[in-house]
Amino acid sequence: MIISSIILAAATACPCEAKLQSMLPEVFAKSAAHYRAIDAAATPLMDKGDAAREAKPHGERLVPHGWNAKAGKLDMRSIYWWTSGHFPGSLWYLYEATGDDFFRDRATVWTELVAPNSKVTDNHDVGFIMYCSFGNARRLLKTDRYDALLLETADSLSKRFNPDLGLIRSWGALGEKRNFLVIPDNMMNLELLEWAAKAKGGEKRFDDIARSHATKTMGHHFRADGGTFHVLDYDQKTLRVKGIERGQGASCETAWSRGQSWAIYGYAMMYRETRDPAYLEFAQKVSDFAINHPNMPVDGVPYWDYGAPGEERDTSAASIMASGLLELSTFVPGDKGAKYRAFAVKQLLSLCTDEYFAKPGENGDWLLKHGVGHKPAGGEIDTPLDYGDYYFLEALLRFRSLVGR
Ligand code: GLY
Repeated sequence: MIISSIILAAATACPCEAKLQSMLPEVFAKSAAHYRAIDAAATPLMDKGDAAREAKPHGERLVPHGWNAKAGKLDMRSIYWWTSGHFPGSLWYLYEATGDDFFRDRATVWTELVAPNSKVTDNHDVGFIMYCSFGNARRLLKTDRYDALLLETADSLSKRFNPDLGLIRSWGALGEKRNFLVIPDNMMNLELLEWAAKAKGGEKRFDDIARSHATKTMGHHFRADGGTFHVLDYDQKTLRVKGIERGQGASCETAWSRGQSWAIYGYAMMYRETRDPAYLEFAQKVSDFAINHPNMPVDGVPYWDYGAPGEERDTSAASIMASGLLELSTFVPGDKGAKYRAFAVKQLLSLCTDEYFAKPGENGDWLLKHGVGHKPAGGEIDTPLDYGDYYFLEALLRFRSLVGR
Protein backbone atom coordinates (compact mmCIF):
# COMPACT_ATOMS: atom_id res chain seq x y z
CA MET A 1 0.00 0.00 0.00
CA ILE A 2 2.87 2.39 0.82
CA ILE A 3 3.38 5.06 -1.81
CA SER A 4 5.42 7.71 -0.05
CA SER A 5 8.26 5.41 0.98
CA ILE A 6 9.20 4.74 -2.62
CA ILE A 7 12.41 6.55 -3.28
CA LEU A 8 12.02 9.41 -5.69
CA ALA A 9 14.09 8.59 -8.69
CA ALA A 10 14.89 10.71 -11.72
CA ALA A 11 12.80 9.93 -14.76
CA THR A 12 14.79 7.95 -17.25
CA ALA A 13 14.92 8.78 -20.92
CA CYS A 14 12.61 5.86 -21.76
CA PRO A 15 9.94 7.10 -24.20
CA CYS A 16 7.41 4.68 -22.67
CA GLU A 17 7.79 6.39 -19.30
CA ALA A 18 7.33 9.83 -20.85
CA LYS A 19 4.20 8.58 -22.60
CA LEU A 20 2.70 7.11 -19.40
CA GLN A 21 3.63 10.21 -17.43
CA SER A 22 1.85 12.44 -19.93
CA MET A 23 -1.26 10.25 -19.75
CA LEU A 24 -1.58 10.28 -15.96
CA PRO A 25 -3.78 13.39 -15.53
CA GLU A 26 -6.30 12.12 -18.07
CA VAL A 27 -6.32 8.56 -16.68
CA PHE A 28 -6.90 9.84 -13.15
CA ALA A 29 -9.64 12.22 -14.34
CA LYS A 30 -11.42 9.42 -16.22
CA SER A 31 -11.03 7.07 -13.24
CA ALA A 32 -12.50 9.70 -10.95
CA ALA A 33 -15.56 10.02 -13.20
CA HIS A 34 -16.02 6.23 -13.22
CA TYR A 35 -15.85 6.01 -9.43
CA ARG A 36 -18.25 8.93 -8.93
CA ALA A 37 -20.74 6.91 -11.00
CA ILE A 38 -20.18 3.70 -9.00
CA ASP A 39 -20.51 5.59 -5.72
CA ALA A 40 -23.81 7.15 -6.87
CA ALA A 41 -25.23 3.78 -7.94
CA ALA A 42 -23.98 1.92 -4.86
CA THR A 43 -24.91 4.33 -2.09
CA PRO A 44 -28.67 3.54 -2.12
CA LEU A 45 -27.81 -0.20 -2.01
CA MET A 46 -25.46 -0.01 0.98
CA ASP A 47 -28.15 -1.16 3.45
CA LYS A 48 -29.94 -3.62 1.20
CA GLY A 49 -28.26 -6.78 2.48
CA ASP A 50 -29.92 -10.15 2.57
CA ALA A 51 -32.54 -9.87 5.33
CA ALA A 52 -31.97 -13.50 6.25
CA ARG A 53 -28.47 -12.63 7.30
CA GLU A 54 -29.42 -9.61 9.36
CA ALA A 55 -28.85 -11.71 12.48
CA LYS A 56 -25.12 -11.10 12.00
CA PRO A 57 -23.80 -8.92 14.78
CA HIS A 58 -23.38 -5.94 12.51
CA GLY A 59 -26.08 -6.65 9.97
CA GLU A 60 -25.13 -7.45 6.42
CA ARG A 61 -24.24 -4.13 4.88
CA LEU A 62 -22.96 -4.10 1.33
CA VAL A 63 -20.00 -2.69 -0.59
CA PRO A 64 -19.63 -2.61 -4.40
CA HIS A 65 -17.46 -5.47 -5.65
CA GLY A 66 -18.01 -5.94 -9.40
CA TRP A 67 -20.53 -6.03 -12.19
CA ASN A 68 -23.27 -8.56 -12.84
CA ALA A 69 -23.45 -8.26 -16.64
CA LYS A 70 -26.38 -10.68 -16.97
CA ALA A 71 -28.57 -8.71 -14.58
CA GLY A 72 -27.07 -5.40 -15.74
CA LYS A 73 -26.41 -4.26 -12.19
CA LEU A 74 -23.65 -3.69 -9.69
CA ASP A 75 -22.49 -6.76 -7.81
CA MET A 76 -22.77 -5.66 -4.18
CA ARG A 77 -21.17 -7.92 -1.58
CA SER A 78 -21.21 -8.19 2.19
CA ILE A 79 -18.76 -6.11 4.18
CA TYR A 80 -17.35 -9.50 5.25
CA TRP A 81 -16.48 -10.49 1.66
CA TRP A 82 -12.69 -10.57 1.18
CA THR A 83 -12.60 -7.62 -1.24
CA SER A 84 -14.69 -5.17 0.80
CA GLY A 85 -11.68 -2.94 1.51
CA HIS A 86 -10.78 -2.43 -2.15
CA PHE A 87 -13.58 -0.07 -3.19
CA PRO A 88 -12.95 2.26 -0.21
CA GLY A 89 -9.22 1.90 -0.90
CA SER A 90 -9.66 2.98 -4.54
CA LEU A 91 -11.58 6.03 -3.35
CA TRP A 92 -8.60 6.88 -1.12
CA TYR A 93 -6.25 6.52 -4.07
CA LEU A 94 -8.47 8.82 -6.14
CA TYR A 95 -8.34 11.34 -3.31
CA GLU A 96 -4.56 11.06 -3.41
CA ALA A 97 -4.50 11.33 -7.21
CA THR A 98 -6.89 14.26 -7.57
CA GLY A 99 -6.92 16.06 -4.20
CA ASP A 100 -10.72 16.25 -4.58
CA ASP A 101 -12.40 16.31 -1.14
CA PHE A 102 -15.38 14.43 -2.59
CA PHE A 103 -13.23 11.28 -2.65
CA ARG A 104 -11.96 11.84 0.90
CA ASP A 105 -15.52 12.13 2.18
CA ARG A 106 -16.91 9.16 0.27
CA ALA A 107 -13.83 7.05 1.12
CA THR A 108 -14.43 7.80 4.80
CA VAL A 109 -18.06 6.66 4.61
CA TRP A 110 -17.27 3.37 2.84
CA THR A 111 -14.19 2.73 4.98
CA GLU A 112 -16.07 3.08 8.24
CA LEU A 113 -18.68 0.61 6.96
CA VAL A 114 -16.16 -2.27 6.97
CA ALA A 115 -14.96 -1.64 10.56
CA PRO A 116 -16.63 -4.75 12.06
CA ASN A 117 -13.98 -6.86 10.32
CA SER A 118 -11.53 -5.93 13.07
CA LYS A 119 -13.03 -8.69 15.21
CA VAL A 120 -13.18 -11.37 12.50
CA THR A 121 -11.01 -14.45 13.08
CA ASP A 122 -12.50 -16.93 10.61
CA ASN A 123 -10.39 -15.90 7.59
CA HIS A 124 -7.06 -14.27 6.75
CA ASP A 125 -8.56 -11.61 4.49
CA VAL A 126 -9.02 -9.07 7.27
CA GLY A 127 -5.55 -7.83 6.33
CA PHE A 128 -6.72 -6.93 2.80
CA ILE A 129 -10.02 -5.54 4.05
CA MET A 130 -8.77 -3.32 6.83
CA TYR A 131 -5.38 -2.20 5.54
CA CYS A 132 -6.57 -1.19 2.06
CA SER A 133 -9.35 0.88 3.67
CA PHE A 134 -8.30 2.08 7.14
CA GLY A 135 -4.58 1.79 6.36
CA ASN A 136 -4.93 4.27 3.51
CA ALA A 137 -7.23 6.44 5.61
CA ARG A 138 -4.66 6.81 8.40
CA ARG A 139 -1.86 7.45 5.88
CA LEU A 140 -3.69 10.11 3.87
CA LEU A 141 -5.52 11.80 6.74
CA LYS A 142 -2.37 11.65 8.86
CA THR A 143 -4.47 10.52 11.78
CA ASP A 144 -4.05 7.89 14.49
CA ARG A 145 -7.76 7.65 15.14
CA TYR A 146 -8.04 4.29 13.41
CA ASP A 147 -4.95 2.75 15.01
CA ALA A 148 -6.78 0.90 17.79
CA LEU A 149 -9.04 -0.71 15.18
CA LEU A 150 -6.07 -1.75 13.03
CA LEU A 151 -4.24 -3.16 16.06
CA GLU A 152 -7.35 -5.11 17.01
CA THR A 153 -7.44 -6.49 13.43
CA ALA A 154 -3.78 -7.55 13.67
CA ASP A 155 -4.59 -9.35 16.90
CA SER A 156 -7.56 -11.11 15.24
CA LEU A 157 -5.38 -12.16 12.29
CA SER A 158 -2.62 -13.39 14.60
CA LYS A 159 -5.08 -15.84 16.19
CA ARG A 160 -4.87 -17.79 12.92
CA PHE A 161 -1.12 -18.36 13.38
CA ASN A 162 -0.07 -21.89 14.25
CA PRO A 163 3.29 -21.63 16.05
CA ASP A 164 4.17 -25.29 15.39
CA LEU A 165 3.76 -24.85 11.65
CA GLY A 166 4.98 -21.25 11.70
CA LEU A 167 2.13 -20.32 9.33
CA ILE A 168 -1.11 -18.38 9.30
CA ARG A 169 -4.08 -20.48 8.24
CA SER A 170 -5.64 -18.89 5.14
CA TRP A 171 -8.90 -20.73 4.76
CA GLY A 172 -10.86 -22.78 7.27
CA ALA A 173 -12.15 -22.20 10.76
CA LEU A 174 -9.90 -21.73 13.77
CA GLY A 175 -9.31 -25.08 15.43
CA GLU A 176 -10.23 -27.13 12.31
CA LYS A 177 -8.13 -30.31 12.63
CA ARG A 178 -8.85 -31.95 9.26
CA ASN A 179 -6.85 -29.50 7.21
CA PHE A 180 -4.67 -26.41 7.39
CA LEU A 181 -4.92 -24.56 4.08
CA VAL A 182 -2.47 -21.88 3.00
CA ILE A 183 -2.50 -19.78 -0.21
CA PRO A 184 0.06 -17.28 -1.57
CA ASP A 185 -2.57 -14.51 -1.34
CA ASN A 186 -1.89 -14.59 2.41
CA MET A 187 1.42 -12.79 1.78
CA MET A 188 -0.62 -9.63 1.23
CA ASN A 189 -2.06 -9.71 4.74
CA LEU A 190 1.39 -9.52 6.30
CA GLU A 191 1.59 -5.78 5.56
CA LEU A 192 -0.95 -5.10 8.31
CA LEU A 193 1.09 -7.19 10.76
CA GLU A 194 4.28 -5.33 9.83
CA TRP A 195 2.53 -2.03 10.40
CA ALA A 196 1.15 -3.30 13.74
CA ALA A 197 4.61 -4.38 14.91
CA LYS A 198 5.94 -0.85 14.47
CA ALA A 199 2.90 1.20 15.51
CA LYS A 200 2.56 2.88 18.88
CA GLY A 201 0.99 0.27 21.15
CA GLY A 202 1.91 -2.51 18.70
CA GLU A 203 3.79 -5.69 19.53
CA LYS A 204 6.96 -7.30 18.17
CA ARG A 205 5.16 -10.66 17.93
CA PHE A 206 3.31 -9.36 14.84
CA ASP A 207 6.64 -9.02 13.02
CA ASP A 208 7.74 -12.47 14.22
CA ILE A 209 4.53 -13.98 12.84
CA ALA A 210 4.82 -12.16 9.50
CA ARG A 211 8.46 -13.21 9.01
CA SER A 212 7.75 -16.78 10.01
CA HIS A 213 4.83 -17.02 7.58
CA ALA A 214 6.79 -15.43 4.71
CA THR A 215 9.83 -17.65 5.28
CA LYS A 216 7.87 -20.91 5.55
CA THR A 217 5.81 -19.98 2.49
CA MET A 218 9.02 -19.30 0.57
CA GLY A 219 10.27 -22.79 1.51
CA HIS A 220 7.17 -24.78 0.59
CA HIS A 221 4.86 -22.91 -1.73
CA PHE A 222 6.94 -22.64 -4.91
CA ARG A 223 8.46 -24.96 -7.45
CA ALA A 224 12.19 -24.84 -8.25
CA ASP A 225 11.46 -22.49 -11.18
CA GLY A 226 9.70 -19.94 -8.92
CA GLY A 227 6.15 -20.77 -10.02
CA THR A 228 3.56 -20.94 -7.25
CA PHE A 229 1.14 -23.61 -6.15
CA HIS A 230 -2.21 -22.23 -5.15
CA VAL A 231 -3.41 -24.22 -2.13
CA LEU A 232 -1.18 -26.25 0.20
CA ASP A 233 -2.66 -28.39 2.94
CA TYR A 234 -0.43 -28.94 5.98
CA ASP A 235 -0.64 -31.81 8.43
CA GLN A 236 -0.83 -30.32 11.90
CA LYS A 237 0.74 -33.41 13.52
CA THR A 238 3.67 -34.19 11.20
CA LEU A 239 4.05 -30.48 10.25
CA ARG A 240 4.54 -31.49 6.61
CA VAL A 241 2.67 -30.62 3.42
CA LYS A 242 0.08 -33.37 2.96
CA GLY A 243 -1.74 -32.11 -0.11
CA ILE A 244 -1.65 -29.72 -3.05
CA GLU A 245 -4.88 -28.33 -4.52
CA ARG A 246 -5.28 -26.39 -7.75
CA GLY A 247 -7.64 -23.95 -5.98
CA GLN A 248 -8.26 -21.06 -8.38
CA GLY A 249 -5.53 -22.24 -10.76
CA ALA A 250 -5.83 -24.44 -13.85
CA SER A 251 -3.97 -27.40 -12.33
CA CYS A 252 -1.54 -28.42 -9.59
CA GLU A 253 1.27 -28.32 -12.15
CA THR A 254 0.75 -24.76 -13.41
CA ALA A 255 0.97 -21.33 -11.79
CA TRP A 256 -2.22 -19.33 -11.23
CA SER A 257 -1.39 -15.83 -12.48
CA ARG A 258 -2.90 -13.78 -9.67
CA GLY A 259 -1.26 -16.03 -7.07
CA GLN A 260 2.08 -15.36 -8.77
CA SER A 261 1.36 -11.62 -8.64
CA TRP A 262 0.46 -11.81 -4.93
CA ALA A 263 3.86 -13.42 -4.37
CA ILE A 264 5.74 -10.76 -6.38
CA TYR A 265 4.03 -7.96 -4.48
CA GLY A 266 4.18 -9.76 -1.12
CA TYR A 267 7.92 -10.48 -1.10
CA ALA A 268 8.83 -6.99 -2.36
CA MET A 269 6.67 -5.60 0.48
CA MET A 270 8.28 -7.91 3.04
CA TYR A 271 11.73 -6.74 1.93
CA ARG A 272 10.62 -3.12 2.35
CA GLU A 273 9.40 -3.87 5.87
CA THR A 274 12.22 -6.13 7.10
CA ARG A 275 15.26 -5.52 4.83
CA ASP A 276 15.85 -9.28 4.92
CA PRO A 277 17.85 -9.98 1.73
CA ALA A 278 16.25 -13.43 1.41
CA TYR A 279 12.93 -11.75 0.62
CA LEU A 280 14.54 -9.46 -1.96
CA GLU A 281 16.16 -12.39 -3.70
CA PHE A 282 12.90 -14.33 -3.66
CA ALA A 283 10.87 -11.39 -4.98
CA GLN A 284 13.21 -11.39 -7.98
CA LYS A 285 12.86 -15.12 -8.48
CA VAL A 286 9.05 -15.06 -8.57
CA SER A 287 9.11 -11.94 -10.78
CA ASP A 288 11.56 -13.51 -13.23
CA PHE A 289 9.31 -16.56 -13.49
CA ALA A 290 6.43 -14.36 -14.65
CA ILE A 291 8.33 -11.90 -16.85
CA ASN A 292 10.28 -14.61 -18.68
CA HIS A 293 7.44 -17.10 -18.92
CA PRO A 294 6.99 -18.31 -22.53
CA ASN A 295 3.23 -17.81 -22.16
CA MET A 296 3.48 -14.20 -21.01
CA PRO A 297 1.73 -12.17 -23.78
CA VAL A 298 3.71 -9.37 -25.42
CA ASP A 299 1.50 -6.69 -23.84
CA GLY A 300 2.33 -7.96 -20.32
CA VAL A 301 -1.26 -8.80 -19.33
CA PRO A 302 -1.11 -12.47 -18.26
CA TYR A 303 -3.54 -15.21 -19.18
CA TRP A 304 -5.47 -16.18 -16.04
CA ASP A 305 -3.03 -19.07 -15.50
CA TYR A 306 0.50 -19.39 -16.90
CA GLY A 307 -0.53 -22.85 -18.09
CA ALA A 308 -3.60 -21.62 -19.99
CA PRO A 309 -2.29 -19.71 -23.03
CA GLY A 310 -4.98 -18.45 -25.38
CA GLU A 311 -7.65 -18.42 -22.67
CA GLU A 312 -8.91 -15.30 -20.84
CA ARG A 313 -6.49 -12.64 -19.65
CA ASP A 314 -6.59 -11.48 -16.03
CA THR A 315 -6.12 -7.73 -15.75
CA SER A 316 -5.98 -8.00 -11.95
CA ALA A 317 -2.90 -10.22 -12.23
CA ALA A 318 -1.33 -7.49 -14.39
CA SER A 319 -2.14 -4.56 -12.10
CA ILE A 320 -0.98 -6.34 -8.90
CA MET A 321 2.20 -7.40 -10.68
CA ALA A 322 2.87 -3.89 -12.02
CA SER A 323 2.51 -2.37 -8.56
CA GLY A 324 4.80 -5.00 -7.02
CA LEU A 325 7.41 -4.63 -9.77
CA LEU A 326 7.52 -0.86 -9.40
CA GLU A 327 8.31 -1.24 -5.72
CA LEU A 328 10.82 -4.01 -6.41
CA SER A 329 12.58 -1.85 -9.01
CA THR A 330 13.46 0.67 -6.27
CA PHE A 331 15.39 -2.00 -4.36
CA VAL A 332 17.25 -3.66 -7.24
CA PRO A 333 20.09 -1.63 -8.73
CA GLY A 334 21.26 -1.44 -12.32
CA ASP A 335 19.82 -3.11 -15.39
CA LYS A 336 17.78 -5.64 -13.43
CA GLY A 337 15.88 -2.97 -11.49
CA ALA A 338 15.36 -1.05 -14.75
CA LYS A 339 13.97 -4.20 -16.35
CA TYR A 340 11.34 -4.59 -13.59
CA ARG A 341 10.37 -0.95 -13.91
CA ALA A 342 10.15 -1.14 -17.71
CA PHE A 343 7.96 -4.24 -17.53
CA ALA A 344 5.58 -2.55 -15.09
CA VAL A 345 5.37 0.52 -17.33
CA LYS A 346 4.57 -1.69 -20.29
CA GLN A 347 1.79 -3.36 -18.30
CA LEU A 348 0.32 -0.03 -17.24
CA LEU A 349 0.42 1.34 -20.77
CA SER A 350 -1.44 -1.76 -21.95
CA LEU A 351 -4.03 -1.44 -19.17
CA CYS A 352 -4.65 2.18 -20.21
CA THR A 353 -5.66 1.20 -23.75
CA ASP A 354 -9.28 0.76 -24.90
CA GLU A 355 -8.68 -2.98 -24.92
CA TYR A 356 -8.61 -3.02 -21.11
CA PHE A 357 -9.72 0.40 -19.79
CA ALA A 358 -13.49 0.80 -19.93
CA LYS A 359 -15.32 3.70 -21.56
CA PRO A 360 -17.70 5.71 -19.36
CA GLY A 361 -20.92 3.79 -18.80
CA GLU A 362 -19.58 0.38 -19.81
CA ASN A 363 -18.19 -2.31 -17.49
CA GLY A 364 -20.46 -1.11 -14.68
CA ASP A 365 -18.15 1.91 -14.63
CA TRP A 366 -15.31 -0.14 -13.14
CA LEU A 367 -11.97 0.82 -14.68
CA LEU A 368 -10.47 -2.45 -15.93
CA LYS A 369 -12.25 -4.98 -18.11
CA HIS A 370 -11.20 -8.63 -18.47
CA GLY A 371 -10.50 -9.87 -14.96
CA VAL A 372 -10.86 -13.49 -13.89
CA GLY A 373 -11.98 -14.30 -10.36
CA HIS A 374 -12.33 -18.07 -10.02
CA LYS A 375 -12.45 -19.82 -13.38
CA PRO A 376 -12.46 -23.45 -12.13
CA ALA A 377 -15.58 -22.64 -10.09
CA GLY A 378 -17.14 -20.85 -13.09
CA GLY A 379 -17.21 -17.57 -11.19
CA GLU A 380 -16.31 -14.11 -12.44
CA ILE A 381 -14.78 -14.86 -15.82
CA ASP A 382 -13.86 -11.94 -18.09
CA THR A 383 -15.30 -9.32 -15.79
CA PRO A 384 -14.26 -6.24 -13.81
CA LEU A 385 -12.82 -6.86 -10.34
CA ASP A 386 -12.58 -4.24 -7.58
CA TYR A 387 -9.09 -5.34 -6.60
CA GLY A 388 -7.89 -5.09 -10.23
CA ASP A 389 -8.83 -1.40 -10.14
CA TYR A 390 -7.31 -0.88 -6.68
CA TYR A 391 -3.84 -2.11 -7.64
CA PHE A 392 -4.05 -0.33 -11.02
CA LEU A 393 -4.58 3.02 -9.27
CA GLU A 394 -1.90 2.16 -6.72
CA ALA A 395 0.58 1.28 -9.48
CA LEU A 396 -0.14 4.55 -11.31
CA LEU A 397 0.47 6.47 -8.08
CA ARG A 398 3.68 4.55 -7.44
CA PHE A 399 4.77 5.42 -10.97
CA ARG A 400 3.88 9.07 -10.39
CA SER A 401 5.99 9.13 -7.22
CA LEU A 402 8.93 7.74 -9.21
CA VAL A 403 8.79 10.17 -12.10
CA GLY A 404 7.18 13.23 -10.54
CA ARG A 405 4.13 14.97 -11.92
N1 GLY B 1 -7.50 -13.80 -2.68
C1 GLY B 1 -8.40 -14.43 -3.54
C2 GLY B 1 -8.15 -14.11 -4.95
O1 GLY B 1 -7.12 -13.55 -5.30
O2 GLY B 1 -9.00 -14.43 -5.77
